[in-house]
Parts: sequence; C-alpha cells; structure tokens
Amino acid sequence: MPPPPAPEQRHQDPAFVRGVFDRIASRYDVTNTLLCGGCDSGWRRRTAKLLARWNPREILDLATGSGVLADVVQRWNPEARIVGADFSQPMLRQAWDVRGQRRLVVADALSLPFRDASFDVVTVAFGLRNMASWPAALAEMKRVLRPGGHVVVLDFSLPGGWLREPYRFYLHRILPRLAGLISREREGYEYLAESIEGFPSGAAMTALLAAVGFERATFAPLTAGIVSLYTAEKI
Ligand SMILES: C[S@@+](CC[C@H](N)C(=O)[O-])C[C@H]1O[C@@H](n2cnc3c(N)ncnc32)[C@H](O)[C@@H]1O
Repeated sequence: MPPPPAPEQRHQDPAFVRGVFDRIASRYDVTNTLLCGGCDSGWRRRTAKLLARWNPREILDLATGSGVLADVVQRWNPEARIVGADFSQPMLRQAWDVRGQRRLVVADALSLPFRDASFDVVTVAFGLRNMASWPAALAEMKRVLRPGGHVVVLDFSLPGGWLREPYRFYLHRILPRLAGLISREREGYEYLAESIEGFPSGAAMTALLAAVGFERATFAPLTAGIVSLYTAEKI
C-alpha cells in the first residue's frame, strides 16, 4: 500500500476528500447553515446573478455536492440547462432527494465525461480547494468550456487587515470543534483551515487562471474577504 499523503496535503487527497463528503452528506446542508447562519446564501446569489449577464444556455456546476449553488443558479437563470457533477454519490443523492435535481453525473473533476466545448459556464463553489491539482482541474474546466465561455470559482480566502488574525484563530481553534459537533466528522473539518491557508487567493488565483490559459481573470472579495469570487474567460 502506498504511504498516506503528508497531513498538510490530506485535504487534496481524493480518497480522503470523497470519504469525508460521503460520510457528512446527509448533514452537509445543516452544518453549513448552523456554522454561518445562512451567510452563504448571499455569496451564492451574487454568483448566480453574475452568470445571468452572460445569458448562458448550458452550465456545469462542478463539485455540486447537495446542489445548493445549482439551485440558486437555476433560479436566476431559468432558461439555462444545468448539469451537476461530483465524485461523491451520497452528496449527489442529497441533490436528487432534497432539491429534486435530475441532471446529475458522478464524475471526478480532473477527468470529466464531457466533450470539449460543451458548456457556456462552469461554476465551482467550495470545491476547487480540495482537488488534487488546481491547475489540472482548471485546465479540465477550460477544456469543456466553449470559446467565449466563463469559469466561475467561489471559495474561501483569508480576510486582510485587523480581521485576519481573529479570523485565523476562529478557523484553526473554534471552527473544527463546532463543525465536528454538528457534522459528527471532526477529522474532515480539521483540514479546513490548512486548506484555506494554502489555497491561492486574490491576485495569486487570477495568476493561476492566466497560467492555465484563461483570459480576463477577475476577483472580488466578499464579506471582508472571507470568501472570494473569481471569473475568467476562455477565448
Ligand atoms: C464543500 S462541498 C461544496 C458543495 C457545493 N458546491 C456547495 O457550494 O455547497 C465540496 C464538494 O466537492 C466535491 N469534490 C471535491 N473534489 C472533487 C473532485 N475531484 N471531483 C468531483 N467532486 C469533487 C465533494 O465531493 C463535495 O461534494
């Protein structure tokens, strides 16, 4: 058996990540709601409204999980056809049972079962951070996008200024305990802080998008920078 990945890389180990989401699937939505009191609804709405201005017809929501973003995106883009993809079947089961979503595909983001240039927009919310290779995942998103299509990444980042250190304290010391109690899966949440610390944000993420070949990369910090919203275009 190969040795387990070093702890700091564990949050990018696909078997570990899938196992965590398989186990917390039925408690994922409630854990999110209790941890941030519904603050994610504003981030998702902003993401969905942003897409609407491109009037997309075919949207892929990658790492769709329980389908919470896909649901909001569908509401703001009623004409669009949205496919949700995720490698955790129990998470997709939530999207199916709780949200009534039917266009769901079990797939690894690094090897998508879609033809080149199939989608107008690819969204990924709180999913890219845990993927084994960020450049490879972004390159795969670019492959399935049509020329002129957009990738939209919503993910955690660290706030700047006075909030940074108190927030890091919360992230490292308080959040894993709270999330562990609610989700009954403390191990998965122990890596959340590490994964956020190591994830490129702001200009570093737009540079990564450019390195993969996307153009016109933008970013917007939301809620004092706790989360950031990135877009880029495939030319
Ligand atoms: C934190 S959840 C986010 C779910 C949803 N996007 C949301 O905003 O609530 C992360 C999801 O990413 C999925 N995921 C992580 N790595 C993946 C990969 N390589 N391929 C497909 N899905 C992946 C997990 O199974 C999980 O459902």
